[in-house]
Amino acid sequence: MDETAKKNILRQIPYGLYVIGVKDGASHHAFTGSWFSQCSMKPPRVMLGVRHGTHSLDMIRHGKVFSVNWMSKDDKKVLEQFFKATPASGDRFGDLTYRIQKTGAPVLDKALSYIECEVIHIHEAGDHSIVIGEVVNAELRSDQPPLVMGDTPWHYGG
Ligand SMILES: Cc1cc2nc3c(=O)[nH]c(=O)nc-3n(C[C@H](O)[C@H](O)[C@H](O)COP(=O)(O)O)c2cc1C
Repeated sequence: MDETAKKNILRQIPYGLYVIGVKDGASHHAFTGSWFSQCSMKPPRVMLGVRHGTHSLDMIRHGKVFSVNWMSKDDKKVLEQFFKATPASGDRFGDLTYRIQKTGAPVLDKALSYIECEVIHIHEAGDHSIVIGEVVNAELRSDQPPLVMGDTPWHYGG
């Protein structure tokens, strides 16, 4: 196989960019995710690709819930914050405020919209797991178009 072609073609898959909120007991965490899609209409289910070895995947396994936060095109810095390692202070959220809604997963106050999901299945897929969640809460807060991968110079995968 032509490795360069494979990488460049896979990078042309159009992706969104989301802050995925997770929890384990009383602790809350979040990461930037792009491998996200709806995968069932009835029941309403979505899937996430989550990398093995991340704190987030451990928390999803234990907490069994997650939120998906759509962010504004002005919020690149927020996405950056959640793909970098947690600062030594341990303060993952910094100045960003969040609230607990239905599932206990953190929902960012700045999110344009969000959904909350309960984890139904986790399948190993290679170096990531596919996490399937059922949508149990949704709030459309704004009609503004959200930030997507194509608005940034970033890539994930390939
Ligand atoms: C543009 C971009 C998109 C990303 N998409 C994903 C993704 O879909 N799934 C994933 O597991 N990690 C993704 N990441 C990496 C995580 O955001 C990053 O590993 C994060 O620090 C994980 O946090 P944790 O180890 O504290 O859980 C992405 C990173 C970038 C830069």
